Amino acid sequence: MFVANGNYLKLPGDYLFSTVASKIAAYCEEHPEKAAGIVRLGIGDVTQPLAPSVIRALHKAVDEMADASTFRGYAPDLGYDFLREAIVAHDFTAHGALVSPEEVFVSDGAKSDSANIQEIFAADSRIAVCDPVYPVYVDSNVMAGRTGTYDKATGLWSDVTYMPCTCENGFAPDLPDPDAGISLIYLCFPNNPTGAVIDKPHLQAWVDYANEHGAVIIYDAAYEAYISDPSLPHSIYECEGARSCAIEIRSFSKSAGFTGTRLGYTVVPSDLKDAQGTSMRDLWARRHGTKFNGAPYIVQRAGEAVYSPEGQSETAAQIAYYMENARIILSGLREAGYEVSGGENAPYIWLKTPAGLSSWDFFDSLLDTVQVVGTPGSGFGPSGQGYFRLTAFGSRESALEAVRRIKLM
Ligand code: MLT
Repeated sequence: MFVANGNYLKLPGDYLFSTVASKIAAYCEEHPEKAAGIVRLGIGDVTQPLAPSVIRALHKAVDEMADASTFRGYAPDLGYDFLREAIVAHDFTAHGALVSPEEVFVSDGAKSDSANIQEIFAADSRIAVCDPVYPVYVDSNVMAGRTGTYDKATGLWSDVTYMPCTCENGFAPDLPDPDAGISLIYLCFPNNPTGAVIDKPHLQAWVDYANEHGAVIIYDAAYEAYISDPSLPHSIYECEGARSCAIEIRSFSKSAGFTGTRLGYTVVPSDLKDAQGTSMRDLWARRHGTKFNGAPYIVQRAGEAVYSPEGQSETAAQIAYYMENARIILSGLREAGYEVSGGENAPYIWLKTPAGLSSWDFFDSLLDTVQVVGTPGSGFGPSGQGYFRLTAFGSRESALEAVRRIKLM
């Protein structure tokens, strides 16, 4: 008789956003009259249409696929040169960061890359994660059997090092104890879920720590496009020495509205070598070649269009739209007396639940009383208990309406 992968059986409950979706579905079934009026600021899913230049590129590429002379089959393993060259020029060279196209691996998005990247590291590698954290980093390591046992009472895995991000430390993790023997450090800035940011000196300290202690930083920069403060780093490769200790993951989902279109990339520098001198870039190339057949040609052309002058100004306008939502939510909640953070160089607003309510109790009360949906902070880790995340990715009407209703509570 076949046997299921026991690591999967260790996962407590469903994926966070699936749980939230089921709760909303159950509420709608019970209260069909209220279903249409629900304001959804839970999952960070964009709501603005793709930029006109992206749509034009998609149409053009679709037409190419209809003609034998321009038709494309499998994409090159690492992605098309036209896209990788545009990525390097705009996302790295323009910020003074050294990355070459051979180090850029185009994919179908940052979620899958951030889940899969752990595969190229030893099974007994110890991971360190922020708490709260984007659940994919931990869950993918649970599936790989790397996290030990789960303690239901604390919500912690025995073999994971947690780096609490609380209001006391400004939601910025402290460097882990060097004796903890950490191999992989997951960092995400601007942060999901807290909306916290990191400045260059602090990011440099992480890079120095990783180089000194033989660790690798998996740097999730999916939200870098939301940085407006010019002093903040967009890429970890803006730090000295990052090429020998960091992998960076990027997404077109939030920077250009590709959540449904699917496009992202990961940078694995050729300088990143393990203790035996193994090139992690070559391992990721091997994995990519074996397990992935490339993002669709038409989507890679759409990604290229994001870097055109029109694409840049159109996507900047989308980002400005979402950041105005963030401003509305942030200031509205402050006026209503909530303790809030994030939302300034990030599309997430992190609020402390009122009257000591647990994150899920606040979720239920918000849904029941005013039909507003957010994401319970505890779903991102134990230090998220008593917090709640709202996204700025809704429509303007949703942002205004959510604030109006929350003020009525
Ligand atoms: C979130 O809401 O945290 C994100 O939308 C999840 C994701 O990007 O996969």
